[in-house]
Amino acid sequence: MVIDRQARLVEVQSWNDYFLFTLESPEIATKAQPGQFLMIKVSEFTQPLLRRPISLHNAEGPRLQIFFQIAGEGTRLLSQKKFGERLNLLGPLGQGFTIRPEFRGKEVFCVGGGRGLAPLYFLARELLRTGARPVIFYGGRTAADLPLQERLEKSGFEVLVSTDDGSAGFPGFVTSLVEETLKKRRPEFLYACGPDPMMEKLAEICRGEKLAGEFSLEAIMGCGFGACWGCVKKIRRNGQEKYLKVCQDGPVFPHDEIIWQENDHG
Ligand SMILES: Cc1cc2nc3c(=O)[nH]c(=O)nc-3n(C[C@H](O)[C@H](O)[C@H](O)COP(=O)(O)OP(=O)(O)OC[C@H]3O[C@@H](n4cnc5c(N)ncnc54)[C@H](O)[C@@H]3O)c2cc1C
Ligand code: FES
Repeated sequence: MVIDRQARLVEVQSWNDYFLFTLESPEIATKAQPGQFLMIKVSEFTQPLLRRPISLHNAEGPRLQIFFQIAGEGTRLLSQKKFGERLNLLGPLGQGFTIRPEFRGKEVFCVGGGRGLAPLYFLARELLRTGARPVIFYGGRTAADLPLQERLEKSGFEVLVSTDDGSAGFPGFVTSLVEETLKKRRPEFLYACGPDPMMEKLAEICRGEKLAGEFSLEAIMGCGFGACWGCVKKIRRNGQEKYLKVCQDGPVFPHDEIIWQENDHG
């Protein structure tokens, strides 16, 4: 069920072009599942007309959090919202990550690239609560792209970081860090969210390792709840290739269902 709510902005944190908002919305927060998202109205005016999809970064009691990076006009307008303002949200939307009982006591890898870390905090908290042992891989271009590292570490998660320029953690892509770690450790499952090239490479690694996993996809969205067909991606499900809606059938899909060659990068 889609809920259309006004949520009050009760805390704002920012690091350059990254923002962490805490919002009060008991109706959405109490129903939210990791991997689901919100459609956020960023302007009172007609430009930009469309709401912007943003993942649920966390939900606790009556509060929820979002973590986003300025990408264009919509997210820039969102970043300008002030303490006490009310935001119009649709949500929680989509199919989130699945957490299986057999993960209990086992390691699971959660791999996030840049703003793709957003849904993984809520997921890792839920994994921990249900007895699994999440290991968070956090990759960025530079150290400035890892603003959540401290929050993740303070929350008690094992966090392995990488930067493309070597300014923090493992020098290189987060996919290389995952490959290196897989030489020493064997997780039960791998979750990922980030740029398509990162996830395509991770899918290849998972295939090679026979490792199951779920990835959260991005797509340009018109409505966010299945009405416009603006967000379809080609998916192989039950032996058949079909176009599925990222907003309604996803955004989370098993990695082996995603047809990368046919999907746009970027
Ligand atoms: C399910 C879902 C969850 C998301 N969660 C988050 C999140 O938690 N934090 C976060 O920072 N971002 C998230 N995004 C991406 C975010 O929605 C886009 O960055 C945002 O809509 C861009 O809007 P804009 O007006 O700022 O930029 P625009 O000016 O519209 O676009 C700027 C650039 O971003 C690209 N872009 C626009 N919309 C999307 C989109 N939906 N997906 C991918 N690329 C896009 C454009 O092609 C362009 O290159 C999510 C996207 C989806 C689909
Ligand atoms: S965004 Fe409209 S159908 Fe998915």
